[in-house]
Amino acid sequence: MDFEIINGDIAALETECLVVAVAPEGQLSPAASAADSASNGYLQEILAGGDISGKTAQTLLLHKVPGLTARRVLLLGVGKEEERNNRNYRKAITAAMGVVKSTGISHVIFALDGVLTDDTDQYRQLRHLVEWSGQELYLYDETKSKKADPLKLEKFSILCAEEDTDLAEQALLDGTAIVNGTSIARDLGNLPPNICTPTYLAERALELEAEFEALTTTILDEDEMAELGMHCLLSVGKGSEQPSKLVVMQYNGGVEGEAPHVLVGKGITFDTGGISLKPGDSMDEMKYDMCGAASVFGAINAVCEMALPINVVGIVAAAENMPSGHASKPGDIVTTMSGQTVEILNTDAEGRLVLCDALTYAGRFNPASVVDIATLTGACIIALGHQASGLMSNDDQLAQQLLEAGVQAGDRAWQLPLWDEYQEQLDSNFADMQNIGGRPAGSITAACFLSRFTKEYRWAHLDIAGVAWNSGKNKGATGRCVPLLTQYLLNQSATEE
Ligand code: BES
Ligand code: MN
Ligand code: ZN
Repeated sequence: MDFEIINGDIAALETECLVVAVAPEGQLSPAASAADSASNGYLQEILAGGDISGKTAQTLLLHKVPGLTARRVLLLGVGKEEERNNRNYRKAITAAMGVVKSTGISHVIFALDGVLTDDTDQYRQLRHLVEWSGQELYLYDETKSKKADPLKLEKFSILCAEEDTDLAEQALLDGTAIVNGTSIARDLGNLPPNICTPTYLAERALELEAEFEALTTTILDEDEMAELGMHCLLSVGKGSEQPSKLVVMQYNGGVEGEAPHVLVGKGITFDTGGISLKPGDSMDEMKYDMCGAASVFGAINAVCEMALPINVVGIVAAAENMPSGHASKPGDIVTTMSGQTVEILNTDAEGRLVLCDALTYAGRFNPASVVDIATLTGACIIALGHQASGLMSNDDQLAQQLLEAGVQAGDRAWQLPLWDEYQEQLDSNFADMQNIGGRPAGSITAACFLSRFTKEYRWAHLDIAGVAWNSGKNKGATGRCVPLLTQYLLNQSATEE
């Protein structure tokens, strides 16, 4: 499917379907108004007739509208002005795409102009149209014997005023990169754990290296990690037949030697809990425990496609957490790459065990910032539900930048405190720290654990346990936080230019 930006007279557009925005009380967007004039008031007549009121996400498909070349016109409700925000904008786009998909239209032109959301940035309004309509076309059929019918939609055009063409082209490019990154993250998340192993993730990273000139991939195997002293990371995969991997993807788009932004993803390709075995209910969902890693892949892919003029490093700490005679036991004490020792009281708190060594490794790059992304704690779902990622940071400016990027991207995070008072919950009688802090503030104490390995640089932690996948009938990976991370990196490259 191709996206394109077009200009032209709305009445003369040749397409199977033209989408225009309508709002309550007969309000028409500028493009809808032009279409209405060309049709001699036909659209206003329909609105006056009450077939569609213009509420958010209402749709009405019209055929053979007089005065227009388009075969169909889809009226799309965008709601009253005070109701226009990203949430409703996305609902409207989803509704329109529902009609486009179910009617098997092969070419659609979106002529959605005017103010459609409270984000006044026109570039992002257009970019979100690309992102959110693109995401509606996502389909997983990798492991089905019967593949989905090929998409009928071949071309998706966006009509814009001639003077906005450059901005729209940029929005299209960036939006496509974000959709592609999100799809990669969703695919990786959705793949079953017998396919998506640490070795598989390493292979995917090598494929990315082959695809993009500016990307260099290095894979560290268990021996190399042992050499570096990553015994904490290695302890997690000890019970598994699958070897652990540290995947390092270096994107060099900026000035050589310039400090990179580092993304570190939790890549537990299956989390049984280990010897502290999880209950059986919905355990299959622990295949998603590599969604932090998946979002790093997605963001790196997006950065490569956009050719951002900055340096970025993606690190994935990949392991499988299994019980066995070789597995770590509660009470084991391991030494991390940093030299600090950890008493493993619960082998199910494994994310922090792989991340701490990856975070120490990240220090080698003298990073401008480090953001780790992890499905780290069930407690984060209790705290924030399925809407916001949990954000904790040792740097208020970085935290603000990420919160802002989340708002801009429509992929929000919410900050939790990382006060020293919480650190005491990790005190151990036998090691420098223990890997669990009890039930109170479970997400924060997990971040406290990580903070002990990130003292040398600006660091933030995103707990995506609540947002990385949907359960129930629509079970599947969401691709979050690819939009947030990509927006953050876009903003970084804009300030550097
Ligand atoms: N991967 C889980 C966190 C998780 C649980 C994510 C449910 C999404 C849904 C993580 O490894 C884990 O097991 N965390 C434990 C930590 C506890 C033992 C301190 C948890 O949250 O229960
Ligand atoms: Mn676990
Ligand atoms: Zn886990």
